[in-house]
This record gives sequence, C-alpha cells and structure tokens, in this order.
Amino acid sequence: MDSALDRRPWLITLAAALAALATIALAFRTGADPVEQWRLAARWTARVGFPIFIVVYIASSLRRLWPHPVSQALLRRRRWWGLGFAATHTVHLIALVTFLRISGETRPLSVYLAAGFGYVLLYAMALTSTDAAQRALGRNWKRLHSLGLHWLWFIFFVSYLGRTMEPGKMAEGYVGAAVAIAALGLRIAARFSRKRAPLPA
Ligand code: HEM
Repeated sequence: MDSALDRRPWLITLAAALAALATIALAFRTGADPVEQWRLAARWTARVGFPIFIVVYIASSLRRLWPHPVSQALLRRRRWWGLGFAATHTVHLIALVTFLRISGETRPLSVYLAAGFGYVLLYAMALTSTDAAQRALGRNWKRLHSLGLHWLWFIFFVSYLGRTMEPGKMAEGYVGAAVAIAALGLRIAARFSRKRAPLPA
C-alpha cells in the first residue's frame, strides 16, 4: 500500500521549508536585538539544512551499502529532500543577507565567491531536478549534481572546521565536521563496494 509520502512526496520539501521558517520565529523570540536575532536565524537555518543535505548526499551510497526499505525510500524521494534543502538554504540566504546588512559585518571575498558559487550550483540543481531536465542534460546532469553536492559538502565542512577553533562554538564545529567526514567516508565505501561487487551472471 502506498504511504502518504509516496502519494505526496512534496510534503518533505514543505516540512523542510516550514522547519526553516520556524527557526526564524524561534530566533526572534530568543535573540536580544535584531542583530542577534538574524545571527541566530542564519545559524539555525544552516543547522536545519545540514541534516537534510546529508540525507541527499548519502542517499545513493546508503542504498548501495544497505539495501533496506528505509534506504530505498530515501533514494526514491531524494529529489524532494534536495528541494527541501534548497528551501532551507534559501531561508539561510535571506537570514545571512539581512544579518550582514544590519550588523555591518563583512566576510572575506573568498567566502562570498565560494559560497556564492555554492548557491549558483544549488539553484542549478533545483531547476534541473525534473525527469525532463535529466533526460535533456544526459551525462552533464550527473556532472552538475555531483559537482554541486561535493562543493556544498566542502563549504559545510570548512564552516564547521572553522568553528572548531572558535571558543564557544567548538562542540558544534566538531560534531558538524565529524558528520561531514563520516558522510564522505560512506560515499567512498560505497564506491569501493561497487567496484568489488561481482558482475551479474
Ligand atoms: C553554500 C553556502 C553556505 C553554507 C553551506 C553555509 C553553512 C553554514 C554553517 C554550517 C553554519 C554554522 C551553523 C552552526 O553553527 O551549526 C552557518 C552559519 C552562518 N552563515 Fe552560512 N553558509 C553558507 C553561506 C553563507 C554566506 C555567503 C554567508 C555570509 C557571507 C553566511 C553567513 C552565515 C552566518 C552569519 C552564520 C551564523 C554565524 C554564527 O554562528 O555566529 N553563510 N552557515
């Protein structure tokens, strides 16, 4: 029997978007002033998006290493998880732009370029997440989505690695960096397992 998610997979995307918006509401209740509120909004929207990103990043590897209804379901609905991540990271973008504007803080040019390219790839992936686009782009579809996933992985990893050196943010830095490394390890393990898999008779 079809589950509710099979009939309405877009609920995954909607839930992700609502979770990101809820963090903004929570940040407004928690922060003492607008600068703090938008800083928390940026921080927490990234925190909501990260596990969703990890699901998208490992879905196919998990399915290969652990063939199970759960991993099959994740892979089958990966598109909707991906769009969910695009939604949460759009809320991150709104929060960070507002934070930078009202706080007067800036970041080095290299951060704007690397993260900006990440957003370009993210929206290119979101816009091409249809069967028709996949067919039209052929092998380039896989190239685009592979580059995008690894680029975003790198920005998450560097963001969390940087926090391991900031007093007061070390715990989330270590947890985030460890999760990112574990996800990469899973992808590498899946790649090797495929190479070693016996050829079908
Ligand atoms: C693809 C792009 C980006 C990714 C993957 C990303 C990822 C992250 C991560 C992992 C965090 C930390 C969340 C935590 O503490 O758990 C964060 C927070 C934050 N990000 Fe982003 N980010 C991106 C783009 C940007 C850009 C371009 C800016 C601004 C130039 C920015 C500004 C912020 C701010 C202000 C915070 C909160 C800082 C704090 O914790 O005090 N982000 N982001």
